[in-house]
Amino acid sequence: MIDFEALYSISYGLYIVCSGDKTKGNGFISNTVFQVTAEPARFAACCNKDNYSAQFIQKSGIFSVSVLHKDTSPDIFGRFGYKSGKDFDKMEGMQIRYGETGVPIVLNDAIAFLECKVVQTFDVGTHLLFIGELVQSEVLNDALEPITYLYYRQIKKGVAPKNAPTYVDKSKLEKTATGSAFKKFKCTACGYIYDEAKEGKKFADLPDDWVCPICGSEKEDFIEV
Ligand SMILES: Cc1cc2nc3c(=O)[nH]c(=O)nc-3n(C[C@H](O)[C@H](O)[C@H](O)COP(=O)(O)O)c2cc1C
Repeated sequence: MIDFEALYSISYGLYIVCSGDKTKGNGFISNTVFQVTAEPARFAACCNKDNYSAQFIQKSGIFSVSVLHKDTSPDIFGRFGYKSGKDFDKMEGMQIRYGETGVPIVLNDAIAFLECKVVQTFDVGTHLLFIGELVQSEVLNDALEPITYLYYRQIKKGVAPKNAPTYVDKSKLEKTATGSAFKKFKCTACGYIYDEAKEGKKFADLPDDWVCPICGSEKEDFIEV
């Protein structure tokens, strides 16, 4: 038997993984970055084959990791975690620094960054697991705490989309409540659920300029579920 709730007890952080060069870069939100060896310091980053970013990492052989803090703007999750660079330039308007290898590093809401050169790539089915050797790293802000995936899910009420390795189909977890006066509304961009019962407020009563707390999408982008 597989209890999908058990998978939530694995801990992760949340990062923007970027790749490319000074002419063109792209990045995605990842919760699957972790250190695999100390000497030399090497890190794994797991990237869905369908992510636009996968092409950048494969082509350039480098990636950066921006470590996000607990109060990271929902726009950052919206831009890098729910939208693809295939559709627009994600780096436009962002604060970017270029690493020693020329890889773009997103500084918005970053409290530290790593820059890694790919030394091995493993095909793990739906995803590619890149192993990168550390070239450079720096703390940018030691006053703020890094965000964990648990905090993102429980406090920010965030969800991971299908391309995330840790995506869990909600139907495997929840039984649908019936006969309740309260309704649930789902953000069509990021999947966030506004639950009237939990929030104590009808969705219709939210102000018109209310936006999704996870990805910044507007009220009209929600559907009743
Ligand atoms: C909380 C969260 C965690 C995610 N973790 C991963 C991950 O570890 N690996 C991955 O490939 N995608 C992950 N994703 C999904 C990608 O960020 C998303 O598919 C993104 O739009 C890909 O952008 P791109 O096509 O521009 O590369 C995650 C998204 C969120 C919101």
